Amino acid sequence: MNLFDRQQPRERPERPERSGRPRRRSHVVLVALPLLAALAGLPASAPTSALGRLPSCDLGDVYTVPRGYDEWSITLVDRLLRVGKDYVPPDLVHVSEAGLPGGGHIRAVAVDDTKAMARAARAAGAPIGVWSAYRSYAQQQQIFTGYARQNGFDSAITYSQRPGHSEHQLGLGVDFMSAGGGDPLQGDWATTAAGAWMRDNSWTFGWVNSYPRGKDGARWNDRTCLRYEPWHYRYLGREVARKVHRSGLTIREYLWRNHTQLDSRGRPLSTSTPRPSARPSGDPPTTASPSQSSTPAPTTVSSTRPAAISPLAPPGSSQSPVLDSRIVVGGLLAFLAVLTVGLVARRRRHRQAGELPRMQGGPADPADR
Ligand code: DAL
Ligand code: ZN
Repeated sequence: MNLFDRQQPRERPERPERSGRPRRRSHVVLVALPLLAALAGLPASAPTSALGRLPSCDLGDVYTVPRGYDEWSITLVDRLLRVGKDYVPPDLVHVSEAGLPGGGHIRAVAVDDTKAMARAARAAGAPIGVWSAYRSYAQQQQIFTGYARQNGFDSAITYSQRPGHSEHQLGLGVDFMSAGGGDPLQGDWATTAAGAWMRDNSWTFGWVNSYPRGKDGARWNDRTCLRYEPWHYRYLGREVARKVHRSGLTIREYLWRNHTQLDSRGRPLSTSTPRPSARPSGDPPTTASPSQSSTPAPTTVSSTRPAAISPLAPPGSSQSPVLDSRIVVGGLLAFLAVLTVGLVARRRRHRQAGELPRMQGGPADPADR
């Protein structure tokens, strides 16, 4: 006798005769529900977002996850992780809308906080302006290849990101300058009034310096995998910026540790790019910003030279071990469910036919004891 038989009141013998089908349905529901719950739980449990071991400064071309346009505050790009050529934020607006002097565009999501920051900096006697803001994939390619041609790939990669890897393409990376001042790339901008004010206060407005100095004040930082850039800030929104600031981690470390999704082998997921949205009417001009105009002309130098360490996964690859394991586990659960339903039905048929098989070594039904 099985569990369900025990629940049937024996004083009502007519019930089993008419309830064979409904009870079989209840078996199916009871088996299917945990199965569905298990399957629904799988995507939530994987991929994981805890890397544990931050990769060293490997060069690679893995599409970053998450990277939806509405996931802007937790999208990470670095030497390994990138967005696609078609990644164009749908809400770019001119920086003047954020109260900043200078040229270029940023995402509308950053406007209110940036306007407040510009006002506060001005009030503190440290007015800021924009040196370089949003850059398209093509513009970043032009810049990087220019640097690579001028100084060599190995040098360029220490201060310029390859196309797809730059926070400028997110519409959330800005090279700031002192309003009315000169090139912030000359000298240490953090020693100017505007640079020092930004260093100390920007995070309260959602902006964090992406490329601080390295260990012992070194210009190279192996936690950012880039050289010190006191002028380059990333808008994360106030909440994430506060967390990054309080964590003492760099943006790369914080996002990697807390938000970058990984497959079951601890590697960033490599998936297709988001569909590009229509460009806003105020589409950024292709004319160079101050920093862009000073870069050499584009050359034939490849901006994606094979790295010393091979990429973890090629861009566009649809390989996903997470999905694979999900299919395997789902298939196994489905198999077990079908098996269970089959066995239950078989036992019921036997029982109704009065030939319920007995378990070896004892009665199958306690009522038979
Ligand atoms: N100069 C910064 C790292 C960039 O190229 O995005
Ligand atoms: Zn920059």
